Amino acid sequence: MKALILSGGKGTRLRPLTYTGAKQLVPVANKPILWYGIEALVAAGITDIGIVISPESGDEVRAKTGDGKRFGAQITYIRQDSPDGLAHAVKVAQPFLGDSPFVMYLGDNLIQGDLAALLNDFKTRTLAATILLCPVPNPTAFGVAEVGADGRVLRLVEKPKVPPSNLALVGIYFFSAVIHDAIADISPSARGELEITDAIQWLIDRQACVEACQLRGWWLDTGKKDDLLEANRVILDTRLQTAILGEVDAQSKATGRVRLGEGSRLINCTVRGPAIVGANCHLENCFIGPYTSIADDVRLVDADIEHSVILAGASVEGVSGRIVDSLIGQRASLTTAPRRPKAMRLMIGDDSKIELI
Ligand code: DAU
Repeated sequence: MKALILSGGKGTRLRPLTYTGAKQLVPVANKPILWYGIEALVAAGITDIGIVISPESGDEVRAKTGDGKRFGAQITYIRQDSPDGLAHAVKVAQPFLGDSPFVMYLGDNLIQGDLAALLNDFKTRTLAATILLCPVPNPTAFGVAEVGADGRVLRLVEKPKVPPSNLALVGIYFFSAVIHDAIADISPSARGELEITDAIQWLIDRQACVEACQLRGWWLDTGKKDDLLEANRVILDTRLQTAILGEVDAQSKATGRVRLGEGSRLINCTVRGPAIVGANCHLENCFIGPYTSIADDVRLVDADIEHSVILAGASVEGVSGRIVDSLIGQRASLTTAPRRPKAMRLMIGDDSKIELI
């Protein structure tokens, strides 16, 4: 069994962050989203992993993630020259996949449950495909399944204007090699992409065994800022463990589950967990509220931040209003004169400079 992680695409919905980096590398609780997928696959026993990358962000994905040794896996990078759809990515990866059955994992998806049970079911029942479904409040943003009274999938539609149900396709699929025949036979959709939903529909139309499982537990597609903040909240809530590796001065307090990285200093700060601070950060006269992730090399002085993600090398200084629900890009710098806005909601790209005066 192999795995194929899709880490190409355009990442338009997380712009401006993804002008300068891959959306799959944006951190959730200080770890790239992509790595959660790799870890989940390795935990399910799959170590032969292909990662589809784009010409724009592929080098960054490769440099950061490496050859897989750190995960106990072997990673092969597969370049997709243009983002022509999920099924197109599988086509490009066919030399890597060969005749092997495989799990396809969208690199911007996170799920709670473990894959081992699903994988076992897929392997022992020789299915053509297993798809995962999850009820969502906004089905028009996803692939959607129409399911018959007996639980069988009748139809799949990609981002339908009028959804046939509220059951979205989760970005994790199990395929046998027959999916390559389906992909070879379908045409690009109206939006010009070779759709994996059309390939699965091809299997359904030919009475191949396509199993649909309802996902238990949470599922997060981190495509947009609020989804990313929600993923950050859920991961901090469920997985963060306390560890104070940096320095906390006598005037500072860290309560609840807090992780403070090596070389980081808290000077006259209150950090209320769950919250994570990376390595080599300088925090002075700050309040850091729950559900905040601060990456490495961040400088925060006279700042009040809650339910936000601050990326590596960013700095926030002298901001008198509370920063909430915000995503601040790498090396961005935010400063303000000491007047008092009530609150701010921000999405600030890498290398930005913002002064609130
Ligand atoms: O998240 C689940 C949804 O993912 C499903 O419900 C949809 O049926 C499915 O089409 C997909 O929709 P998205 O609009 O979320 O797909 P997105 O363009 O964000 O691409 C998903 C991942 O695949 C992302 O990590 C980028 C990567 N990708 C995408 C395309 C179009 C590639 O590697 N190559 C591509 O050509």
